[in-house]
Amino acid sequence: MLVLGIETSCDETAAAVVGDDRTIHADLVLSQLDDHAPYGGVVPEIAARSHVDHLDALIARALDEAGVGFADLGGVAATAGPGLIGGVMVGLTTAKAICAVRALPLVAVNHLEAHALSARLVADIAFPYLLLLISGGHCQLLVVEGVGRYRRLGTTVDDALGEAFDKAARLLGLGYPGGPEIERAAEAGNGARYELPRPMLGRPGCDFSFSGLKTALGRLVAGLAGGAPGARETADLAASFQAAVADVVCDRVRNAAARFHADHGPGGVLVVAGGVAANRFLRRQLAEAAARLGLELVVPPARLCTDNGAMVAWAGIERLALGLADGLDAPARARWPLDERRVPVEA
Ligand code: KG4
Ligand code: ZN
Repeated sequence: MLVLGIETSCDETAAAVVGDDRTIHADLVLSQLDDHAPYGGVVPEIAARSHVDHLDALIARALDEAGVGFADLGGVAATAGPGLIGGVMVGLTTAKAICAVRALPLVAVNHLEAHALSARLVADIAFPYLLLLISGGHCQLLVVEGVGRYRRLGTTVDDALGEAFDKAARLLGLGYPGGPEIERAAEAGNGARYELPRPMLGRPGCDFSFSGLKTALGRLVAGLAGGAPGARETADLAASFQAAVADVVCDRVRNAAARFHADHGPGGVLVVAGGVAANRFLRRQLAEAAARLGLELVVPPARLCTDNGAMVAWAGIERLALGLADGLDAPARARWPLDERRVPVEA
């Protein structure tokens, strides 16, 4: 069975065709980065308009690349939230139109569920597993108990981790998106040169906080001679920022692992998803932490970690396999917490 996956919740227009045998027949992502870069962040109206302009042709290309037509599909899955509502409506409405005309089942996918299940598209991972979701909009630790069954252990009380990277990069005069820029700058840097706070470290629970870290970085930058860092300072500040982030994330994962092991016994898998999972320094630190905690670390390939249509198609496949199609009246939702829709079905 083949499913078309559509993703339009942020600044990527994406369409993919995936089979229930885990074959990715086409996986196209159109980034709007250049449209938003002048503003240093995503502008919702520009994003929605750009999805309208590009989605139809992108879907046609995806089907073409997969060598199939609408008649060969077993369903259409589209992100129905959470995200920028204009963009979500573009993708979901397009999916509904295809389903109405072709009499196909629709799956209204929670974007976070798509991230949560993406690892199962590339690896044999059984439920339950631990998920660290770190992206531009989200920063959460969850237990994935089954399709539609998520228990949130912790979330950020202020900025998402990707957002923190983006803000830190701006403070350092680096480009957008900030994560890859910070990572590159940090490669030549000394992460022990500047002392930065580790918010939440050592506290009970699995919540995150990054705004204090950003503020401290801003104060360091403002205190530099000339009020702006040179190449040496930029590298050392970026490395110090990354070191602080990694310490905090590993500390939160340790608490999450304790909870997970108390409920489900020793061992298990830690999946890391979201755009920040592309960070190699953080991955190394997480690999060491996971080994210490007796967890197997699984990080999907980078193009499955950042927003894409394949993960949406796969979430659709997992739901359709359980008979969980949605009606054509499924709403587009700006907010949609993952642990809200609980479906008592286990694969
Ligand atoms: O998952 P994603 O593509 O979009 C959503 O937010 O849903 O994540 C984008 C975020 C951005 O904030 C970007 O700065 C961050 O992921 N990011 C990284 C890296 N690559 C992307 N952060 C740290 N290191 C990276 N290498
Ligand atoms: Zn995402």
